[in-house]
Amino acid sequence: MTKEILLTGDRPTGKLHVGHYIGSLRNRVKLQNSGDYDPYIMIADTQALTDNARDPEKIRNSLIQVALDYLSVGIDPTKSTIFVQSQIPALFELTAYYMDLVTVARLERNPTVKTEIKQKGFKDSIPVGFLNYPVSQAADITAFKATVVPVGDDQEPMLEQTREIVRTFNRVYDCDVLVEPKGYFPAKGEGRLPGLDGNAKMSKSLGNAIYLSDDEKTVQKKVMSMYTDPNHIHVEDPGQVEGNTVFTYLDVFDPDKDTVAQLKEDYQKGGLGDVKIKRYLNKVLEQELSPIRERRAKYEKDIDSVYQMLIDGSNKANEVANQTLEEVRDAIGLNYFKNR
Ligand code: TRP
Repeated sequence: MTKEILLTGDRPTGKLHVGHYIGSLRNRVKLQNSGDYDPYIMIADTQALTDNARDPEKIRNSLIQVALDYLSVGIDPTKSTIFVQSQIPALFELTAYYMDLVTVARLERNPTVKTEIKQKGFKDSIPVGFLNYPVSQAADITAFKATVVPVGDDQEPMLEQTREIVRTFNRVYDCDVLVEPKGYFPAKGEGRLPGLDGNAKMSKSLGNAIYLSDDEKTVQKKVMSMYTDPNHIHVEDPGQVEGNTVFTYLDVFDPDKDTVAQLKEDYQKGGLGDVKIKRYLNKVLEQELSPIRERRAKYEKDIDSVYQMLIDGSNKANEVANQTLEEVRDAIGLNYFKNR
């Protein structure tokens, strides 16, 4: 049986946090271990440069951190091909061909790009490469003929745009070279983890994240600082569970649903203090985070082998992407020199 091809990745603009873990990393590990897929995991350093061109050092330093994050959550290089986007030249040639099939107006309508342009405060100074990144992402996905793309919910517009490009390309060049991908998203209500401060988004810039690389002490301090119910002042007061970050995290992380239900009941009745529920959450989090930390420590001792893994992965990725590029050039008719 031929396996379905899975492709996904992250921009290396910092360390990955538990929000990434819930939003997509743990799905990737699950799909990898199911044995039904041939997974490619890409560190999207070129995409990261689209809004960090003047700070390449940040991307350079984050690259190895993200590689360690992948390995520590259980992405297994004997099962998944981990590679680096900038080392795969075919991706950029594919991007160039796809750019001719997409209008500027269509890119400006991409909802995720639109939101990010606002967030990043580009105003009238949007880098061309940034506006174009959905097209380059279509190249990443189609170069491997991936059918499954496990990502966070915010990436759905990228997949929509990739499918459009695939259909346009195959129609315009009258071929079936490119393959349409499907997104693979987190289960309902489990996609987005709020920040420690209760903000809907966990992010580095908001300073409200728990990193996969945080040590035990740091995690504990962060958990103890979490936003709960601002009106729950005395232990005896009835507390609110909705919008209470500690309970949101427990819903996501604690496999013991009965205990969580009981804690919620007690909290709502009054008599259960914030410190108690935070200590409990810390214990639950540690069950998930301590094996991740142990694996990280092992790989950190052998950074050379981590780089070697990226070299091997990128070599393999180049073979696959070059093959697709060849087919794309043939489909467009750029094969003038072939057989001469
Ligand atoms: N855009 C993704 C992010 O924001 C990273 C990415 C780049 C990606 N190329 C991809 C994800 C291809 C899935 C498939 O992190």
